[in-house]
Amino acid sequence: MNKILVTGGTGYIGSHTVVELQQKGYDVIIVDNLSNSQIEVLDNITAITGIKPQFEQFDLTDAPKTADFFFRHNDIKAIIHFAAFKAVGESVDKPLMYYRNNLVSLMNILQGMSYNNIPNIVFSSSCTVYGQPEQLPVSENSPILPAMSPYGNTKQIAEEIIRDTLNSTKLNATLLRYFNPIGAHESALIGELPLGVPNNLMPFITQTAIGIRQQLKVFGGDYPTRDGTAIRDYIHVVDLAKAHVVAVDRMLNKKSKKNLEIFNLGTGNGYSVLEVINSFEKTTGQKLNYIVVERRPGDITEIWADTEFANNELGWKAEQGVDEMTLSAWKWELALEARKRS
Ligand code: UD1
Repeated sequence: MNKILVTGGTGYIGSHTVVELQQKGYDVIIVDNLSNSQIEVLDNITAITGIKPQFEQFDLTDAPKTADFFFRHNDIKAIIHFAAFKAVGESVDKPLMYYRNNLVSLMNILQGMSYNNIPNIVFSSSCTVYGQPEQLPVSENSPILPAMSPYGNTKQIAEEIIRDTLNSTKLNATLLRYFNPIGAHESALIGELPLGVPNNLMPFITQTAIGIRQQLKVFGGDYPTRDGTAIRDYIHVVDLAKAHVVAVDRMLNKKSKKNLEIFNLGTGNGYSVLEVINSFEKTTGQKLNYIVVERRPGDITEIWADTEFANNELGWKAEQGVDEMTLSAWKWELALEARKRS
């Protein structure tokens, strides 16, 4: 069994990816410092797959601990590196915390890979690297625009660090640029667990519907879009997780055409904030309390992916639509509520 390291494997996208990897027969080891996730996620992964992943809790910014880890696990065949901070607003307030956490960990991992001849890394990047693109849909060759936040900048710099490292080593990398992942596993055993007040749309919707938040603020009703609200390419987190398995398969089977490959991971469909709300109300039967307010600073008007390259080259395609995404997010919120009560 090929051994795969998943950093951040108890997090939102990480946990869904661990499930898909295990179900494809991979031997998964997770490293996570649990800074934004809970240890119980391991039991929930096990409840879905019947396999308890190996787990080590430490901080990947700790160079000696990371070096020791790779020395002990030099049979790892590929790494999927999710572990990172991801809150845009917080990154503006604490830029050094973001640069240190997101970049030092990456550098320690790359160092461990090259010392121990671990050849493959899949990196979690973001469509944020494209800023507000002039042309839509946005392809992998669209220009990279100056980042609008330190968080976004960590993704751009991380891509450059990987690119430069590949020039002087035998490592291979796949950069996956995610659009907007939402939804949860059909089992409702794993999903997104935001700490405190959610920044992102979907958890704010479900928390409002269940009564944790009073009202959803729709940021901006005056965008030049079909209904005035901003448009994003929402992708079901399970579809996204499956793309990681395909990317790992491709690297291990030496199907990559270059030592650095980049793929956009989206559905190719843009939905406005109001369309997401309408889908949520339709699929769940819940009436959402929301109000349209000022735009949120730093938000772009619209973006969606050109999926042709990922579809043709990876042989992967997002399968689930927005209704499946909003319904699964709601089932997850209901499961969380039931767990709180029990
Ligand atoms: C943001 C980041 C992105 C990051 C992602 C995951 C930017 C420009 N992008 O995406 O880099 O990878 O989060 O952390 O910051 N909305 C509301 N009300 C809310 C929350 C959101 O109307 O309470 C709207 C937003 O204005 C936006 C859409 O919903 O139009 C999606 O927002 P969100 O879920 O925060 O994702 P992004 O901002 O697209």
